[in-house]
Amino acid sequence: MSKKVKIGIIGAGTIGSVHADAYAKVADAEVVALCDILPDRLKEKAARHQIAKTYATHQLLLADPSIDAVSVCVPNCAHAPIAIDAFKAGKHVLLEKPMTMNAKLGRDICKARDAAGKLLQMGMVRRQSPEAEVIQQAIAKGRLGGIYQINIKQIRRRGIPGLGGWFTTKSQSGGGALIDIAVHSIDLAMWVTGLWNPTRVSAKTYSKFGSPMRDYRYVSMWAGPPNYKGKFDVDDYVAGIVRFGKQATMSLEVAWACNSEPVNYIEFLGDKGGIRLGAGDPILMTEMDGYQADVKLIYDNKRDAFAAEMAKFVAAIQGKGEVPATGEEGVIVMSLLDAIYKSSEKDQEVAVEIP
Ligand SMILES: NC(=O)c1ccc[n+]([C@@H]2O[C@H](COP(=O)([O-])OP(=O)(O)OC[C@H]3O[C@@H](n4cnc5c(N)ncnc54)[C@H](O)[C@@H]3O)[C@@H](O)[C@H]2O)c1
Repeated sequence: MSKKVKIGIIGAGTIGSVHADAYAKVADAEVVALCDILPDRLKEKAARHQIAKTYATHQLLLADPSIDAVSVCVPNCAHAPIAIDAFKAGKHVLLEKPMTMNAKLGRDICKARDAAGKLLQMGMVRRQSPEAEVIQQAIAKGRLGGIYQINIKQIRRRGIPGLGGWFTTKSQSGGGALIDIAVHSIDLAMWVTGLWNPTRVSAKTYSKFGSPMRDYRYVSMWAGPPNYKGKFDVDDYVAGIVRFGKQATMSLEVAWACNSEPVNYIEFLGDKGGIRLGAGDPILMTEMDGYQADVKLIYDNKRDAFAAEMAKFVAAIQGKGEVPATGEEGVIVMSLLDAIYKSSEKDQEVAVEIP
């Protein structure tokens, strides 16, 4: 039997807890240490997840030689510095989404990984959903033919993660709805189709709901009371179109908040079939022997996506598999996000530049 992989979690907030719960379901993993800069939260979360060691800074945790690997679960602005420090300390890294603040920093993380000879896995948990996997397999088998259009619609009616916290402060988050939630759908769309060659983008981002802060128009957002001393200088809505050379296009409409029905799906259109990844079972819309046919895909829908993500990270460290989401893919996703923001700012179509 392989030796258990010893994990340290950096960041004891919402997703840090999700990681702790997920590792607890992986037999070959043991979370041995937790770090947070908030002492009360650190104490409470360590007790809740029964984690023996606590550290007040990431540097102290990384100096612990018993730790093999870390989950980086801190605000986006701290992803690159902490991931790079972790590689310098000889740890493997599972890095939460978005990879970092921009593509150049993403490339810096990959360079640090290469210099350390350690593993980097991106926290793209939606790739672990069984629905996404079964659609990816159907596309790989040619069931949809050539994919020429992807439609992403990810609309929250009321879902800004707090007002005036780090999520709504550009210097800490890098952006709003686009970098926070669209990152999942964009990554998933490119992974499912294998279209890792975004070339050009025309997009517009908007900031309509949290700014100006004192005129916060809706009280039904879900993330606690407003912090009027903070900032809201990020996007809450984005619409755009992405070209993948001459091969395919992708439309994108994503909102943290807007006055519309909440929906969340990615639709893949091919010349042999089309399919939607969203609520409910995936149905392949196609034609058979002259009849229009709706084919229900059969899959195991009981998988815990976060536990699967951590299990694959641990297996890769043990040499039993590959990381399921790479740093190189993370850099391409970040390059596309950079281009969307640039297109909006310049008010024109721009090229996707991958550093
Ligand atoms: N995969 C997903 O579905 C998913 C869901 C939620 C959040 N996330 C990502 O996880 C990250 C954290 O989000 P969250 O919702 O948990 O935020 P959060 O605010 O709930 O938690 C972040 C924690 O990090 C701590 N922290 C900040 N700087 C630190 C530092 N330098 N060292 C140690 N601790 C530090 C904070 O005190 C806080 O407790 C973000 O990048 C976010 O995008 C991913």
